[in-house]
Amino acid sequence: MPAFEGSDGLEGVIAAHTILSDVDGAAGRLVIRGRSLDQLSGQATYEEVVHLLFGGFFDDLPETPALAAALGRARAEVFAEVAALDARLIGLGAIEAVRALMARLPDGDDLHTALRLVAAPAVFTAAVIRRRQGLQPIAPDAGLGHAADLLRMLKGQAASQAEVAGLDAYLVTVSDHGLNASTFAARVIASTHAGLTSAVLGGISALKGPLHGGAPGPVIGMLDEIGDPANAQAWLEGALDRGDRLMGFGHRIYKVRDPRADALKRAVRAMGEGSNILPGRLAFAEAVEAAALVVLKARKPDRSLQTNVEFYTALLLEALAFPPDAFTCVFAAGRTAGWVAHAREQVAGGRLIRPQSLYVGPAPLAA
Ligand code: ACO
Repeated sequence: MPAFEGSDGLEGVIAAHTILSDVDGAAGRLVIRGRSLDQLSGQATYEEVVHLLFGGFFDDLPETPALAAALGRARAEVFAEVAALDARLIGLGAIEAVRALMARLPDGDDLHTALRLVAAPAVFTAAVIRRRQGLQPIAPDAGLGHAADLLRMLKGQAASQAEVAGLDAYLVTVSDHGLNASTFAARVIASTHAGLTSAVLGGISALKGPLHGGAPGPVIGMLDEIGDPANAQAWLEGALDRGDRLMGFGHRIYKVRDPRADALKRAVRAMGEGSNILPGRLAFAEAVEAAALVVLKARKPDRSLQTNVEFYTALLLEALAFPPDAFTCVFAAGRTAGWVAHAREQVAGGRLIRPQSLYVGPAPLAA
């Protein structure tokens, strides 16, 4: 292949104007609709952030309490699709099974469609995990908050306040993040006027890759294989010697620490004994993180490879007893609000996204 002149990862290309979120990679700052991450994570509920993201994109958007009630009803409504969870779907990866159930939802552009889409990953994630564990899915309780209901559907009993707060902080922290790969995919699909369900399915499909939202599951594999801080350096160097990437490190935009990493670390610490976190687990993860940063700096001195959101995502979702292969589903449960808002914004103000490629193949043979 001839060398690509330009950036095949589209670095630095502005492909949308958005009022939704701003990722400042040099300063390590995330702003979501005029609020800093610190003003939202651990401070606002997921429903409040859904309201914030959807504001101006639906004429019939109610105030947050009514929106939360409508989201609860949407959870109860989409639960009917769980009946389609057969052995073949259960045998797929958790994110593939959730995606397959999501594909059963009707397409549309209205608030009802949007709320079903926000509700669905939470309901389907809990159901898929339980069916894979040989347990019966649990129907939603429309009167609960979104995070509390997701945990109740997962565990079969009410979660502690600390766990609910931890999951709320997570869902809020990952709700939107500029023009990341899955949001770009969702906007491209929305730009064809295919509908919100199609845009969200595209978002999920992009999210599941290990370079994007598929990273936190393997972080647990890495921590478990390292086992003890004394093994960290040798294990990490061995992984890089094999040409592997260290999951939970590096980012296209952040050249300093991803602010979401610290927001989630705070959330894990705040959950403390009110969760399933193993004693010493956070301190162990911090030791592995510190060793990884030293190894990455030594191996890639010209790059600034810092901790990204996925490292402490792994710790937080593990503490909430989600199995690692379902972490991406929980990410999707948070990010769907962002995908929907971006899809609405694209349709409202944007045109069909249709860039060009430069043909570098052979010319047709002379006749
Ligand atoms: N471990 C080891 N080396 C890395 C890592 C890593 N985690 N990340 C980047 N590098 C290296 C690459 O090998 C490459 O080195 P080279 O120039 O010597 O070949 C260099 O840094 C640049 O890598 P690119 O892939 O060009 O950078 P990009 O901006 O595309 O990378 C990405 C961003 C994909 C996130 C990358 O850092 C990575 O693969 N990280 C691990 C997976 C991960 O944690 N993904 C979650 C990201 S956060 C999110 O999407 C929600």
